[in-house]
Amino acid sequence: MPRYTEEQIEQVRAANDVVDVIGSYVRLKRSGSGYVGLCPFHSEKTPSFSVNPARQMYKCFGCGVGGNVLTFIMEYENYSFPEAMEYLAERAGIVLPKKELSAQQKREENLRMTLLEINRKAASYYYAKLKSPQGKLGYEYLQNRQLSEDTIRRFGLGYAGQGGGELYQYLKHEGYDDRTLQETGLFKMDERGVYDKFWNRVIFPIMDVNNRVIGFGGRVMGDAKPKYLNSPETKLFDKRRHLFGLNYAKQGKRKNMILCEGYMDVISLHQAGFTGAVASLGTAFTEQQANLLRRYTEEVLLTYDSDGAGIKAALRAIPLLRKAGISGRIVHMDPYKDPDEFIKALGAEAFQERMDQAENSFFFEIGVLRQEYDISDPEQRTKFIHGMARKLLVFEDKVQRDSYLEALAAKYTVRQEDLRSLVIRYANQMPEGYQEVMEERRQESRQAVKKREDGICYSYRLLLSWLIECPELYTKIKSVIQPVDFVDEMYHQVAELLYQQLEEGKQEPAKIINRFQDIEGQKQVAEMFQTDFAAEMNKQEQEKAINELVVRIKEHSIEHRTRNLTDMGELQELVRQKKMLQNPEKLHISL
Ligand code: CTP
Ligand code: MN
Repeated sequence: MPRYTEEQIEQVRAANDVVDVIGSYVRLKRSGSGYVGLCPFHSEKTPSFSVNPARQMYKCFGCGVGGNVLTFIMEYENYSFPEAMEYLAERAGIVLPKKELSAQQKREENLRMTLLEINRKAASYYYAKLKSPQGKLGYEYLQNRQLSEDTIRRFGLGYAGQGGGELYQYLKHEGYDDRTLQETGLFKMDERGVYDKFWNRVIFPIMDVNNRVIGFGGRVMGDAKPKYLNSPETKLFDKRRHLFGLNYAKQGKRKNMILCEGYMDVISLHQAGFTGAVASLGTAFTEQQANLLRRYTEEVLLTYDSDGAGIKAALRAIPLLRKAGISGRIVHMDPYKDPDEFIKALGAEAFQERMDQAENSFFFEIGVLRQEYDISDPEQRTKFIHGMARKLLVFEDKVQRDSYLEALAAKYTVRQEDLRSLVIRYANQMPEGYQEVMEERRQESRQAVKKREDGICYSYRLLLSWLIECPELYTKIKSVIQPVDFVDEMYHQVAELLYQQLEEGKQEPAKIINRFQDIEGQKQVAEMFQTDFAAEMNKQEQEKAINELVVRIKEHSIEHRTRNLTDMGELQELVRQKKMLQNPEKLHISL
């Protein structure tokens, strides 16, 4: 059930000029009738991202993203459709009617808002405390750890005082009831009373990507245990789905991001200028976090602690990254424990060097495996080689696997043929899915479907883009090609909307995109209007091209509809149309 009406969506879209909005994220330069800039969704040095004010759309010719202003905000801010609507409505000063929620949903939503508000107040309370005379201990601790005034403010670091109930008193005074306060995870409540969870600790507020405080971490200032306390899971805080520092690190698509273990690592890295650093929240890195990172980068540099636990954690994170389609590399920090200590000892430049030398994560895994064997012993060396062969099976892509195989063979002086035959042997023992044959078959059928689909859909895209660019074409083709001739459901819908607009004499592709509220749908529609239709062709060539296009679409449509025929009346109509196709001069479109 759509939450917003078409009118509301269109109102919000129309009130937010695509150039204005994107211009506030991306530096745009005028170019012809539009604007160009560096694409925020992939890393590039020369601009291939273009914004078209007439169409109210954007498109990157490098990575293929495109859409209208809502698509952009969804992609860039990582918002759902309703969130993008709310954001853009607010930006344009449009008040959207409150969404219809059930009483239960309303209570939940209210509670969430209240919890966010309490967290924000708690964070400011801790921060103010840190800056007050009672916060001296905490402040000195952070100074000793070489955090600047600026960094402390930027990360909103704070101090929980020694009283053990100060935050509680403060929030009670602000009017919150115990039941709500209980839900924040900031207090311990029992028969004897209520206590602050955090006391005499420096405080690290944890924010989600949109800068909302969802939890806290607190560190003792000495060697007491536990070193860190963290907020428990609450209605707002799900450790597995968030990354500390992501709100500061997110920035379109980055070339790479740094994944480390601790709060202090992230903060030190940012302070040293490595603003792409994030950390998982006191738990092992999760699949959800890998998927979250994928939205912002294609490569993750792992800077886990250089001790055994850190290596183990890295070994667990690598497959998760790989599964999410992110390539991982390992930054070695020895002889220091973690990035924080490394930077303190050797500085930012040395850290940059280590980043540049980061090790391919697969080689890292093999290196760790290598440590398990004494390869001067033939028996153990054999086991190691077998282990390598099994590991190589993580690559489903044969070309990729082969290049790793060749590299390993060279590195550990094994004959390629030997390693390859082991790989094949293990591949055949693996459950299906890893087997080459299966994979190749899958790929073939995927390609076949794609090819068939691509052929006719390409023609649809060409025609739709052409209509957008030259609306005068519409009156010439509308009697020959109708929306029903677009036999793919999605193209059909889009064609219907576009025809309707053209009938009314105004084509607004960005409005059509509104109809599709998921990013995938929006992208596909954007793509439909962005197909290059060879504007350089001369009139005669264009005429030839459009006629071929029309015939192709018509033929496909007749064939498809004949195959799926259900009523006889339609058969007659199809026979008539088929005849028409045999007499191309009757159909001919002249430009
Ligand atoms: N952690 C935790 N609880 C602990 C210890 C650690 O939640 N008792 C989490 C924290 O998020 C911490 C991270 O694990 O930031 C890494 O822990 P560790 O390497 O022990 O600490 P550092 O980040 O190096 O912290 P510091 O530099 O302050 O000692
Ligand atoms: Mn540390």
